[in-house]
Amino acid sequence: MKEKIEIADYAQTITKALPKGILLNTQGEKFNSMVIGWGNLGTTWGVPTFVVYVRENRYTKSQLDRTGEFTVSIPLDKPVPKIAKVCGSQSGRNVDKVKETGMTLEEPEALHTPGVREYPLTLECKILYAQRQELSALPKDIRASMYPQDVDGTNPMANRDPHTMYIGQIVEAYIIK
Ligand SMILES: Cc1cc2nc3c(=O)[nH]c(=O)nc-3n(C[C@H](O)[C@H](O)[C@H](O)COP(=O)(O)O)c2cc1C
Repeated sequence: MKEKIEIADYAQTITKALPKGILLNTQGEKFNSMVIGWGNLGTTWGVPTFVVYVRENRYTKSQLDRTGEFTVSIPLDKPVPKIAKVCGSQSGRNVDKVKETGMTLEEPEALHTPGVREYPLTLECKILYAQRQELSALPKDIRASMYPQDVDGTNPMANRDPHTMYIGQIVEAYIIK
């Protein structure tokens, strides 16, 4: 069962959960989920949006570019350690994260990307706009700390790859019960 929510009522929950890691889910050739710590809830072009930032070499990026949609899953309590570990450090290119973590998928309402029952607060998002960040336009200190050019793109934390920003229109928001 899903309980529809007013997104603004959960702004604080989402903002506080982000630094600990929430899930960005995609459904391309298979379902995949990656941990994200960056994101923005707000309004763009007069509609509710959630913005995510994904580095070049993530398996997630290839799925986003192919499908044009994603779901975001947020824990109401704390992240689940096994899900957080696998989805934040391993690539969907090499593992099936559903099998690896035992996470439970929940059918979506409006789009094609499932949510995750263990992280019940769910936003279904349709991508309206994607843009790769221009590293030369960033402050020097951020460029040096977040995009060290001597670390290859497979590193899950800071590496040389720029982020692509995806602005997703939130078309459904609910809590999986
Ligand atoms: C707490 C935390 C936050 C993260 N935030 C992001 C993020 O916002 N953007 C990003 O591209 N990678 C982020 N990562 C790294 C990805 O989760 C990690 O590289 C993942 O294995 C990519 O999975 P994929 O290749 O299946 O897409 C984060 C990792 C952790 C542990």
